[in-house]
Amino acid sequence: MQVYGKSVTAVIEKRAMTEPRAKKISNVDEIIAGLGDVGYITSRQIATAIFVAENLTKPILVEGSAGVGKTELALSTAAWLDLPLIRMQCYEGLDESKALYEWKYGKQLLYTQILKDKMGDVLGDAPGLDAAMAKLQGFGDLFFSEDFLEPRPLLSALRQEHGAVLLIDEIDKSDEEFEAFLLEILSAFQVTIPEIGTIKSTVPPIVFLTSNNMREMGDALKRRCLHLYIPLPDARLEEQIVAARVPDIEAKLRRKLVAFVQLLREQDLKKLPSISETLDWARVLLLLHADDLAPDMIRDTLNVLLKFEQDIHAVRPQIAEMTRKARQAGERGHATTA
Ligand SMILES: Nc1ncnc2c1ncn2[C@@H]1O[C@H](COP(=O)(O)OP(=O)(O)OP(=O)(O)O)[C@@H](O)[C@H]1O
Ligand SMILES: [Mg+2]
Repeated sequence: MQVYGKSVTAVIEKRAMTEPRAKKISNVDEIIAGLGDVGYITSRQIATAIFVAENLTKPILVEGSAGVGKTELALSTAAWLDLPLIRMQCYEGLDESKALYEWKYGKQLLYTQILKDKMGDVLGDAPGLDAAMAKLQGFGDLFFSEDFLEPRPLLSALRQEHGAVLLIDEIDKSDEEFEAFLLEILSAFQVTIPEIGTIKSTVPPIVFLTSNNMREMGDALKRRCLHLYIPLPDARLEEQIVAARVPDIEAKLRRKLVAFVQLLREQDLKKLPSISETLDWARVLLLLHADDLAPDMIRDTLNVLLKFEQDIHAVRPQIAEMTRKARQAGERGHATTA
């Protein structure tokens, strides 16, 4: 870590130049294979975004509807690269002190108390007020030094000697002021602590910001990030995801259930089922020992796929026809119903 800045620089221990990240990503195929090894099935588009972001040292702003695998992408990248995952969950009111650092107030208070008790000893030999003030000033600096600093996720991520994956989850839930505050960190991978100086990371973390589009992200943030939109998966990709996450489900039933979900997504619904719903449904079918799709069983379990009563109501009359199509697709050997 490089430390620049003011007089207190010396307080921070000088760290030896650090080793770079252990695993280096050399191409897109390696990313697809590596994430696959930890159970995350990725399209070429996603893998390419990671490759570019890593090589340009840019954060990735991952957007997409709920349950398409935004958070899991960061978790899986950390697992694959064997890097610490530092996660910051965003919410309204999140501020610098929760995200970056805080001063250890309790410790400062304790030390102040001790200092107060020892005040006489400390100031005893100071000849006059100016000298006494100068001595106290020295203690002030000490109270705002590394020893009293409580690092929060952003600072921790910058200081990981071998790199880290930093997940800034659901950034759209934070306030615009917080977004503005992130800019310095995301463009230069450094932060300035007035009392200490500037702290710059030598091995920048791989940064994922996720958004569900609760609010539009500002242009400045977008400019600093690589944008990645994760769409709902096509049938092929979704089949692979189900195979990776619910391996016990038999191949033909897997094709049929994925085909059914794909058909549901063609409907005009308030909330389309996402990957997480497909996976839940696959687990439910396993639990029920289903060996084929049947309209009755689908009616009874539709609440796993659809989260709004009005959607369930809208789909009910078409279940028999959709089941027939999904079964046909499964028998044909691929989950695409077209
Ligand atoms: N490509 C994938 N490969 C394997 N599993 C996946 C994939 N995409 C999603 N999943 C699984 O789907 C589930 C939902 O993923 P995740 O929590 O990452 O969604 P999300 O996009 O972050 O949703 P939200 O916006 O609600 O936070 C997880 O259990 C995850 O393991
Ligand atoms: Mg998420």
